[in-house]
Amino acid sequence: MGKKKVGVLVSGRGSNLQALLDACRDPAYPAEIVLVISNVAGAYALERARAAGVATCVVSHKDYASREEFDAAMDVHLRQAGVEIVCLAGFMRLLSAPFVQGWDGRMVNIHPSLLPSFKGLNTHARAIEAGVKLHGCTVHLVTPDLDDGPILVQASVPVMADDTEEALAARVLEQEHVAYPLALRLLAEGRVRVDGNRARVDWPGGGALVNPVP
Ligand code: GRF
Repeated sequence: MGKKKVGVLVSGRGSNLQALLDACRDPAYPAEIVLVISNVAGAYALERARAAGVATCVVSHKDYASREEFDAAMDVHLRQAGVEIVCLAGFMRLLSAPFVQGWDGRMVNIHPSLLPSFKGLNTHARAIEAGVKLHGCTVHLVTPDLDDGPILVQASVPVMADDTEEALAARVLEQEHVAYPLALRLLAEGRVRVDGNRARVDWPGGGALVNPVP
């Protein structure tokens, strides 16, 4: 079976993109990244894509009158490149429902919390403030609601008593770089079946990654 063609949407530093690019170097990995789109011209993620020999393009939201038109422009690029799966990797724009629905079951996002806790921004500071003892990241299928949608993979990390936001973010990010390549692999291999709000994942543990005890 051929590799699934993947498009990645980015806005910033692109460390998750890098994790996916690295995973794709394995000949046995079931996906290849064919296009990286950034809404920010200077995003470091674009340099990472170029260094890996992956096609890039910039679609700036500032050039479009509405969210729908911006999304439609990205959609054209993705379809032209033959993309089959879209990965959001630190893409900092909300997406319109028609665009999301056009990729139903084939668009994934990584979020730096154990969803459904801490949707939205500043997840690490909010986790510390809430006093949770476990935090982590989630890779999920994208639905029109923000940080919602069937969960494919979650990885947990401990929250230490003296954690700063930066220390906790770094601990979670390390797990993001494990969770995202796994989730993309599971989707590309057809191991995901959506059952209502749940993703049934054909994988030991069903997609849960747990950090060693501190
Ligand atoms: C990550 O924390 C990701 O979970 C969130 O945005 C951040 C992107 O980081 N959606 P990077 O650009 O992949 O380094």
